Amino acid sequence: MAHGKLHFETLAVHGAGMPDLTKIKPVSIPIYQSSEFVFDSAEHGAAVMAGQEPGYVYTRLGNPTSRDFEKRTALLEGTEDGISFASGLAGIAAVILTYCRPGDNIISSAPIYGGTFGLFKDLMPKMNIEIIYLPASDIHNLIETKANDRTRLVYIETPANPTLDVVDIAETVKAAKKQNLKVVIDNTFATPCLQRPIEMGVDVVLHSATKYICGHGDTMGGVVVGPRTEIDQIRPMAFKNLGGSIAPLTAWLMSRGLQTLPLRVERHSQNAMKIALFLEKHPKVSKTCYPGLESCPGHAVAKKQMSGGFGGVLAIDVKGGREAGRKFQNNLKLCKLAVSLGSVDTLVTHPASTTHLAYSEQDLAAVGMTPGFVRIAVGIENPEDVMADIDQALSNI
Ligand SMILES: Cc1ncc(COP(=O)(O)O)c(C=O)c1O
Repeated sequence: MAHGKLHFETLAVHGAGMPDLTKIKPVSIPIYQSSEFVFDSAEHGAAVMAGQEPGYVYTRLGNPTSRDFEKRTALLEGTEDGISFASGLAGIAAVILTYCRPGDNIISSAPIYGGTFGLFKDLMPKMNIEIIYLPASDIHNLIETKANDRTRLVYIETPANPTLDVVDIAETVKAAKKQNLKVVIDNTFATPCLQRPIEMGVDVVLHSATKYICGHGDTMGGVVVGPRTEIDQIRPMAFKNLGGSIAPLTAWLMSRGLQTLPLRVERHSQNAMKIALFLEKHPKVSKTCYPGLESCPGHAVAKKQMSGGFGGVLAIDVKGGREAGRKFQNNLKLCKLAVSLGSVDTLVTHPASTTHLAYSEQDLAAVGMTPGFVRIAVGIENPEDVMADIDQALSNI
């Protein structure tokens, strides 16, 4: 029917029709801001839905802009495919629930991000899935004695949030493979610019894309990548059952973030290294944790498995404990008091009272988070300005 013959309300809905998208060649992928996609015919719709023909159906199940983000991340991580999520935590939940059944257990490095710890603590007991924590620095030596016939996977985070402990990825893979276990890594802190776990034999790599991939502290997202055989197993759990799919605009912002990721991560790492060296000698600081420091227990392993830098996050133990740590934070003028990391801004937080609230006093002590422990996620400002601010904040405690 010619558009001229249609009623006003119908014209309002249909407009002048779609332009021929095959004739338009933008430099940047369009944001496919559509929750559903039109089929060529009833048969075509059934075939796409059944997975017999390629195509898109419904954005929760896949979207061209999200696919661009997933494929870009897989490419940078040196693997085949990926799935994107509305948050990093949604990705972690989808991975765990894909591989584990009630009665199974997971071996996890400790510490890990407080939200992941919270997910493991709150949700996993309801599923009757047990988490066995092993210290990051020693997990590869302990897997053999701790794994049993219900262990399904080894979950590692390195460098770890917030202590910057380092897991030996290659040795952990070796120990896990001996027990026929999959290895899943949270590569958020390092990014594929500095650490490529797939090349070390890891099965699945995941990210809180909210951090360095986004890069500007303004968008939430997650991404899980790996060989097609793994991703095809995770996708139904992710999109059909849990439904934490990324929004097209968010995916587009993440793809844009990936384009500048190497430049930003290089600068974050250079700045963090300078600031860590400065803090290591500061009279108001009793300990500086940064994998790039020779004094850091994980330095040798980090040097072996990371290249191009050690990331943008460091942590300090402020002399004088909790009260001194609180004063230090309140004295800051340029650095912002905020959770998260990977943003252009330098963000400072006290993990025990914010990001790692799920940790009990006992849990905190077990992983060496002392009362004055403060995390500094270094941004891409001029490091001299950040250092001057940190220095005055420490000196005025
Ligand atoms: C290392 C790490 N993994 C996972 C997450 C969870 O990601 P999101 O907050 O995007 O759900 C975070 C968040 O801070 C994190 O730091």
